[in-house]
Amino acid sequence: MKDSVVPTEQYVIRGGVPLQGEVEIGGAKNAALAILAAAIMTDETVTIENMPDVRDTNVLLEAMGGIGVRIERLDRHTVRINGAMVQNVNIEYELIKKIRASYYLIGALLGKYKEAEVPLPGGCNIGSRPIDQHLKGFRAIGAEVKISHGSIIAHAKRLIGAHIYMDVVTVGATINIMMASCMAEGKTIIENAAKEPHVVDVANFLNSMGANIKGAGTDIIRIKGVSRLHSATYSIIPDQIEAGTFMFAAAASRGNLLVKNVIPKHLESITAKLIEIGCDVEEFDDSVRVSRTGELKSTQIKTLPYPGFPTDMQPQAGVVLALSEGVSTITESIFENRFRYVDEIIRMGANIRVKGNTAIFTGVSSLTGARLTSPDLRAGAALVLAALSADGVSVIDDIYLIERGYEDFEVKLKKVGARIERVSSEKEIRKFILQTEAVS
Ligand code: UD1
Repeated sequence: MKDSVVPTEQYVIRGGVPLQGEVEIGGAKNAALAILAAAIMTDETVTIENMPDVRDTNVLLEAMGGIGVRIERLDRHTVRINGAMVQNVNIEYELIKKIRASYYLIGALLGKYKEAEVPLPGGCNIGSRPIDQHLKGFRAIGAEVKISHGSIIAHAKRLIGAHIYMDVVTVGATINIMMASCMAEGKTIIENAAKEPHVVDVANFLNSMGANIKGAGTDIIRIKGVSRLHSATYSIIPDQIEAGTFMFAAAASRGNLLVKNVIPKHLESITAKLIEIGCDVEEFDDSVRVSRTGELKSTQIKTLPYPGFPTDMQPQAGVVLALSEGVSTITESIFENRFRYVDEIIRMGANIRVKGNTAIFTGVSSLTGARLTSPDLRAGAALVLAALSADGVSVIDDIYLIERGYEDFEVKLKKVGARIERVSSEKEIRKFILQTEAVS
């Protein structure tokens, strides 16, 4: 999205309806971003299925189109990519600065062409987001890397496999080094690798194109360089965070939701916390049912790399803990600036104190609707959950941030009973208030 056209839509929500029914989860945004970038690493055509149609993936596709990648949308969730005609390895800044995952183009371009020039990433304002581990990995396999005029510039005569120990567990650097090294000469070993489901998905995708990557999903990933990658058809895994958001939405709204098209194993830390606070969670082969009948209990949460509780679920969990009896705590150990939703829900009547990287929640029995501003992608989704649970009407501004990562969020919520509308004027807000007043 270009700065000059920041959209001004809002969600207007009348809370108090328990969400009931079934919701279908889409493909994982964070896997899709890496997989789309990796798809240019072969000159043959790659077909990606189950791609989420969200702002971040669309911006990345547009940027890829800008360097000559051929992109064909077969349908809303299927895209055909051909990277044979990449004309330059220099990505335009305006197109890419809004999304964090622009850095995956460095790994992909460096791995394929041995050179890349990509602007330093933007993305959610959730804290300082260093990229030292990415750079350390690229350098270890023989690239010269410098940061100049706001871009990362990398090039190498030869890429040669190396043994890399990651000083912190990082999803982005693990994936980027996997991409950059899959056509390097010899063997690369990544120790202390991230184990998130989307790390495994990207490894599976690269392997389906002919890469030789073993151990993804464990601490140690071993990559044997191959000389070329080839065409593939690949379906992206379901989005763990979209699923978790709907699971917590059921809890916040006293609802009963069947969350379909998920991998329940990926949701274990989320399921465990919901059960701890008193929800019922039933697991099936590819769906989970979450229901809440009574009052919720307090708990403690600490965000950790997978299989720990995901930082991307922390704000949604925070809203539910604000409504749970007793005193709960959340310790945020991944990003320092992820409590920006707290001030917003305090305005709805929540009782929360933040001390350093810990938030202390003293549960209240209900929240009240208010005018809210979405601070970032996941915090914005959390505000939607708060509004769904609240008495009265809330209006949430800056929903373009939420739409970075949730496809048809309000459509899916409406299907399970939520009174929510996506609007773009005060007139439409007033109309919604009148209409929903009549039926409540
Ligand atoms: C990805 C996800 C993001 C999620 C995060 C953690 C995408 C596009 N984004 O972000 O939604 O919240 O994983 O699950 O997939 N770090 C360093 N040096 C580095 C890289 C990271 O110190 O070079 C630190 C970060 O500051 C952070 C931690 O490592 O404290 C984890 O970050 P990382 O896993 O890399 O997050 P992202 O890949 O940026």
